[in-house]
Order: sequence, then structure tokens, then C-alpha cells
Amino acid sequence: MSDLQPLIEAMNDQLSAEYQAVIMYIHYAAVVVGPHRPELSGFFTREIAEETLHAQYLADKVSALGGTPTTTAKPVPHSTDAKQLLENVVAAEIEAVTAYANIIRLADEVGEVGIRVQAENFLMDESHHRDETKKILQSWR
Ligand SMILES: [Fe+2]
Ligand SMILES: [Fe+2]
Repeated sequence: MSDLQPLIEAMNDQLSAEYQAVIMYIHYAAVVVGPHRPELSGFFTREIAEETLHAQYLADKVSALGGTPTTTAKPVPHSTDAKQLLENVVAAEIEAVTAYANIIRLADEVGEVGIRVQAENFLMDESHHRDETKKILQSWR
């Protein structure tokens, strides 16, 4: 097993989570109902481009490191209930933050500084999504 294998596997696992995020935000923007639909549909839609960039970067780097980028997305839990969708988003973003923290650690171990720096940027993106979504839920009634 090459030194790079743990990093490749962690990035590939996060690639399937980024594909999940793209599908999740497209799906949730489409299906969310209730009085807050206009804001929430826009809120979900605005995340699609960033999650797509995350996926593109990971696929490119997995390939560059000698791996085969996954074509599988993790499953997206379906609901039409706005509060449930927001809670699903918070859970997914918390997982993404944890995953990038792990990728940062593994990239450091093999001296892949560029990947570490990009993973730090993505961790910032994911923690911002998480915190913005938590704020929406804070005074939910
Ligand atoms: Fe992401
Ligand atoms: Fe995200």
C-alpha cells in the first residue's frame, strides 16, 4: 500500500459525500414546502455551485494521486418538511467538517501542502453552511 492510499481513500469518501451534497441541495430546493419555501429554496439552490466545485477538486486530485475517483453518491434522505430538511443539512455539514479535518491531517502526513490548504478552505465553506443553517433552526416555530 502506498503512503498516499489513506489520503486517496479519505478524499474519495468525501467525493461521494460532495456528490450527495449536490443532489441534496438540488432535491431539497425542489421539494421544500411551507411558508418559508421561497427563502429556503433559494438558500438550498445557492449551495449547489460550491458543492460542485468541492466535488470537481476532489475528483481531480484523487486522479492526480493515482486513484480512481468514485462515481457513487452517498444516499440523500428525502423529506418535504422544511425543519427536517434543515436538520439533515446540519448533520451533513457537520460530517463534512469532520471529513476535511481528517483530510488535512492525512495530507500533512505525506507533505501534500496544496491539498491541505484547499481542504482548509473547504472546511471553512462547510462550517459556514453548518452555522448559517443552525441559525435558521435556532428560532424555528
Ligand atoms: Fe462540500
Ligand atoms: Fe457543504
